[in-house]
Amino acid sequence: MSDTVLPVTGASPYDVVVGRDLLDRLPGTLGDDVERVALLHSGAHPELAQPALDALVAEYDVLVLGLPDGEDAKTAATAADCWEALGERGFTRSDAVVSLGGGAVTDLAGFVAATWLRGVSVVHVPTTLLGMVDAAVGGKTGINTSAGKNLVGSFHEPAGVLCDLAMLDSLPRDDFVAGLAEVVKCGFIADPRILELVERTEPSTLVPDSPVVRELVERAIRVKIDVVVADLKETGGTEGHPGREVLNYGHTLAHAIERAEGYRMRHGDAVAIGCVYAAELAGRAGLLDPATVARHHAAFARVGLPTTYAGASFDDLHAGMRVDKKARGSQLRFVALRGVGDPVVLAGPDEADLRAAYDVITGGTP
Ligand code: GLY
Repeated sequence: MSDTVLPVTGASPYDVVVGRDLLDRLPGTLGDDVERVALLHSGAHPELAQPALDALVAEYDVLVLGLPDGEDAKTAATAADCWEALGERGFTRSDAVVSLGGGAVTDLAGFVAATWLRGVSVVHVPTTLLGMVDAAVGGKTGINTSAGKNLVGSFHEPAGVLCDLAMLDSLPRDDFVAGLAEVVKCGFIADPRILELVERTEPSTLVPDSPVVRELVERAIRVKIDVVVADLKETGGTEGHPGREVLNYGHTLAHAIERAEGYRMRHGDAVAIGCVYAAELAGRAGLLDPATVARHHAAFARVGLPTTYAGASFDDLHAGMRVDKKARGSQLRFVALRGVGDPVVLAGPDEADLRAAYDVITGGTP
């Protein structure tokens, strides 16, 4: 099957390419002016970086930087180590960064590229499903502080994104399934065909080299592209649409759960629970019909994602939701649905509705 090229339009246009065995596209994506390339990858999986290194060494002076695993990469100290290494190697404004890894590597590498000499080119090669359908597209970069995730960062759009589905062949099944949470989320916020594909496909056949997964990935990326082209800097949408904030569907509770779990729960697992919670809440607020609420429970569960959670009290999670980046003053804000593909911001929901929806998530009756 030939590669699919998904253009991202705007002030800094670039392509997201979806296919298999795409690494030979790296030099063409980096362009002609680049002499030095910093390949930032997860140090826990050096074997994944070798093919990218092979694709780069013939044409560039390559600096390979192995990063701490997962969210541990997203610190000011790691960014500073990278800046030092770029400085020692004499990286100039026409040199570039390549990220190869999951969402955390993408976020850190994007941040380093955004800040080195006030911005050099970056090409993302995501190695996880979550990275492909979310982190690598749209130019968000960031690191964490002790006060929370992604509190320091900038928007820095990549020069290109290579979503090489062959990278997913070796991804542990639980991580692959966690990535499907963002795909199903895209179905609910914008693309009902994603939900139909999930509902009619035998879950065990959802494997990286299947045509249906290829279609799901491409559709989820298209959803993300449409959103970021319309509202790159998350300043808000038009005609009642939440704008880029819509991508945070399910994330208000998800972030509070991740925090309560000390960031040991997979992001996608928390997002699945959070989307079901958001649907229950929208149902109670009179926005969403019972059938679409039930569809949330079924769709996430079908692909093997959790839809219940009882690991923290409502009061703890409520406090966690108050520090969400979307909160304004003391008012909680949720992305909610009035139907599939019909998102709206629900500001200041009823406290009784918040609790009742959480009762369902803890295993109570819907
Ligand atoms: N991950 C949400 C966004 O890119 O806006």
